[in-house]
Formats: sequence, C-alpha cells, structure tokens
Amino acid sequence: MQRTEPAIREQRRRFLGSSLQWAGAILSLALAYPLFRFLGFTVKPKPRFVTVAAPLPLSGYHAERDFILFAGDGKPFAVCRTCTHLGCRVNFLEDKQIIECPCHQSRFTPQGKLISGPAKKDLTRFAVETKKTPEGLISGYVVTL
Ligand code: FES
Repeated sequence: MQRTEPAIREQRRRFLGSSLQWAGAILSLALAYPLFRFLGFTVKPKPRFVTVAAPLPLSGYHAERDFILFAGDGKPFAVCRTCTHLGCRVNFLEDKQIIECPCHQSRFTPQGKLISGPAKKDLTRFAVETKKTPEGLISGYVVTL
C-alpha cells in the first residue's frame, strides 16, 4: 500500500511539531536550571565570636542578647536564648534555676535540656573558650555563635 502525498505531508508536519515541542521543553529546562540553582544557593554563615570581658559575677551566669553564659563546675557553657518553639527570647530565672520562655512557658534546665513546654527540642549550646591572664586568673570568655 502506497501513501498519498497529503498523508506524508501531514505525518511530517506532526513529526516536526512534536520535535519542536520537545526542543522547547529541553531548552526551557536548560535555561531554568541556572535560575533554580541560584535561588537554592545559600551561604553558610560564618561563626561569630562574642567576648565576655570580665569573670562571671557571683551569681554564676551572664545574660547577653543571644546567649546565657554559665560558669558551670569549672567548665563554662553557653546556651542560646532563642526558644526552640517559636523563637522568643528565653530568660534565666535565678530563684528557680530554670530557663523559661515568656511566650508559652517552655522550660529548660540551665544546660538547655527541655523540661516542659510546647517546645520539642533542647536549646542550642555554644562553645565557650576561657581566657586567662599569665598568672592563671580568668580574664574573660569567648563564646562561638
Ligand atoms: S516561643 Fe517559647 S514556648 Fe513558644
């Protein structure tokens, strides 16, 4: 059976149309890839060092905007003040020896462990380096955020 000339033209037209559609789709993906890569690109933040210049007061803790620094038993540590529930700034209640969130009353130990609350995770802990004078006295702390 031989095909007629109009049928062959129609078949060529369909083939050309579908080829152009595929080429357009591939070209769109090729152009969109760099855009999606750019939108998804994030720069990891650099660590921030905060210096607490003086030795800790007798209360054994020092509250800054971003962290609470505790003297510990010879090993100082710092916990983040951002609540793990919705991000309110937590406070250390010295009389109860707990960290409490003023927004929904999540409670944490001074080490940042969750006691109760709507929060589901512990508070973030930051590394603390103790600075000493040549005589061996504590001159300050460097907290790495
Ligand atoms: S934001 Fe802290 S308990 Fe909700």
